[in-house]
Amino acid sequence: MPPDGRHVRYNTAWITGPVILLIAAGVITAGLFVQQALQASRPATPALFDHGLTPVSVKAPAAWTNRQCGTCHVEAFREWKASRHAAAATNKKFRVECTQPIGGRRQWCLNCHAPTNPSAGQLPTEVPHGLKSLFTDQPQWLVDGVDCLTCHVRDGKVLTTRITRAGQAAHPLRLAPELGTAEFCGGCHQFAFKSAHFGDEFHGKLQQASMEEFLDFRRDGGSQESCHECHMPDGNHLMPGGYSNEMLNQALELDLSATWQSQPPGINVRVSVSAKGVGHRMPGGEHFRFLTLYTDLREADTPPIVHPLVEPMSEHEEPVAQPNTVRRVVEWPRVEIMRRELGLRERGLDPGAPLSSDTRLLPGERRTFRYFVPAKDLPESSAHRVSAELRYHKMGDLDARRFGFDPGEVIHTIMRKEEPVHREGADR
Ligand code: HEC
Ligand code: HEC
Ligand code: HEC
Ligand code: HEC
Ligand code: HEC
Repeated sequence: MPPDGRHVRYNTAWITGPVILLIAAGVITAGLFVQQALQASRPATPALFDHGLTPVSVKAPAAWTNRQCGTCHVEAFREWKASRHAAAATNKKFRVECTQPIGGRRQWCLNCHAPTNPSAGQLPTEVPHGLKSLFTDQPQWLVDGVDCLTCHVRDGKVLTTRITRAGQAAHPLRLAPELGTAEFCGGCHQFAFKSAHFGDEFHGKLQQASMEEFLDFRRDGGSQESCHECHMPDGNHLMPGGYSNEMLNQALELDLSATWQSQPPGINVRVSVSAKGVGHRMPGGEHFRFLTLYTDLREADTPPIVHPLVEPMSEHEEPVAQPNTVRRVVEWPRVEIMRRELGLRERGLDPGAPLSSDTRLLPGERRTFRYFVPAKDLPESSAHRVSAELRYHKMGDLDARRFGFDPGEVIHTIMRKEEPVHREGADR
């Protein structure tokens, strides 16, 4: 025993420190492990879109902006910047529709046109936060519309259809074969009419039916596997459509023939419009796009007739011509309209309403309109000229005025053809 009779107390401080540290380290490691396990078991945010019901959740690190993607992916950035996707939330028509009561004023619209908007939790039927000043304030997510992050980023990882070492070194990648499918585009490019009251309700026919029409095309032997072959050749991010005159000009063909017929005497006119290299009804996309075909007849020594750039008015519209049946025509011009009408029935408002017509071209279709002009209805002269002109309308006149466009901005003349025709037996 020690002389002072006290028990010896061993100093254990030197050992408790490390033990506590060890335990703490164990707890932290276990915590991290559990967290990792939890993270692994948490389903990855889907790559596909839900028809505008919710904004997209990308969880990108703050430094990941489209411009930053563009510093390395220069081509993709340049193409995307010039695309309709980049302008989806700032173009004039969208802006007007979103701010006028007659159009959108719905969170739903922003979820497709600017999917990275920060309004998670807002019902699709609600008026977007700060709508009054949204289009003057122009937050970056609005300016960027449908952007790189929208299509390529989930849970802070870059979605791709092929993982490479170089890609992995530049940023974390996640394999997402969905990106290469028609369904990926269809998540935004196909939807019915949205209820104004119930967040999750759609009704009526499809307002945009790109994917359904494409699947029909593919089932009927269409050669393309997905939208990408036509809209993203060589990975081109411009993804052109109806706003590309070049694409429209290539997608349509116009043929005209005008011949004299002796029994019964008169002029036979045959005009054909064909849709080539299109994977859905033509015009595709929104229902307010349409085609008009003007066929005209004049005496050869008079100047060409220039039809004003207007939508043919409905009171001048005659019933749609049955293709390939010959129509006796006295009055010119003849105007054929290729358009999809959406009435009360299609909009899901009155199931008893009559079906509306859809006269758009089918992919690959060649549609021929035939007219006959009896000799007695022709002017005296012996030489005539027949002309045909095909136009693409991005929207009708009423809309154009409402949105502040000139007709020239929304109507593109695809092609014009002319053919001479002589009265038989007359001097040439
Ligand atoms: C509307 C959706 C969409 C947007 C917006 C978009 N991409 Fe893509 N991107 C795709 C699809 C689809 C593919 C092709 C996937 C496949 O079939 O392999 C692709 C492919 C790519 C590739 C692979 C190489 C290639 O060209 O095929 C890169 C790199 C890329 N995108 C970068 C970007 C960048 C950078 C932006 C923004 C400037 C962007 N993308 C915007 C959908 C999009
Ligand atoms: C520091 C440069 C850099 C930045 C910034 C960058 N990337 Fe990449 N990315 C690369 C490289 C390098 C590859 C690999 C390219 C390859 O394998 O040919 C790649 C690959 C990809 C791929 C896979 C396709 C392929 O061809 O391998 C996609 C998709 C992609 N990046 C999208 C993006 C997006 C979206 C952003 C912005 C969020 C972004 N990248 C930012 C350098 C970058
Ligand atoms: C996140 C939603 C979204 C996805 C995904 C998406 N788009 Fe779009 N796309 C839009 C919106 C919105 C517009 C309308 C832009 C505007 O206001 O004109 C558009 C417009 C277009 C246009 C019309 C261009 C024009 O010149 O008129 C084409 C073509 C197109 N997209 C093709 C595709 C293809 C192909 C894919 C799949 C690879 C795809 N989009 C994926 C939302 C999307
Ligand atoms: C075989 C080629 C082809 C395929 C496949 C194809 N398209 Fe198109 N698409 C075209 C052509 C050509 C146009 C231009 C003519 C027109 O407006 O219809 C076009 C136009 C469009 C437009 C623009 C309409 C507008 O109003 O500006 C959209 C949107 C569109 N396609 C979406 C899609 C989607 C989504 C898919 C897949 C589900 C798809 N396309 C498949 C060839 C194709
Ligand atoms: C499910 C996705 C989705 C939702 C929701 C949606 N749109 Fe769109 N919108 C598109 C796509 C895709 C196009 C491109 C089709 C085309 O170009 O023909 C488009 C085209 C448009 C255009 C044509 C732009 C132009 O300049 O030609 C306008 C305007 C428009 N949408 C307004 C709205 C409004 C307003 C709402 C809300 C009531 C809305 N959209 C909701 C996907 C959506």
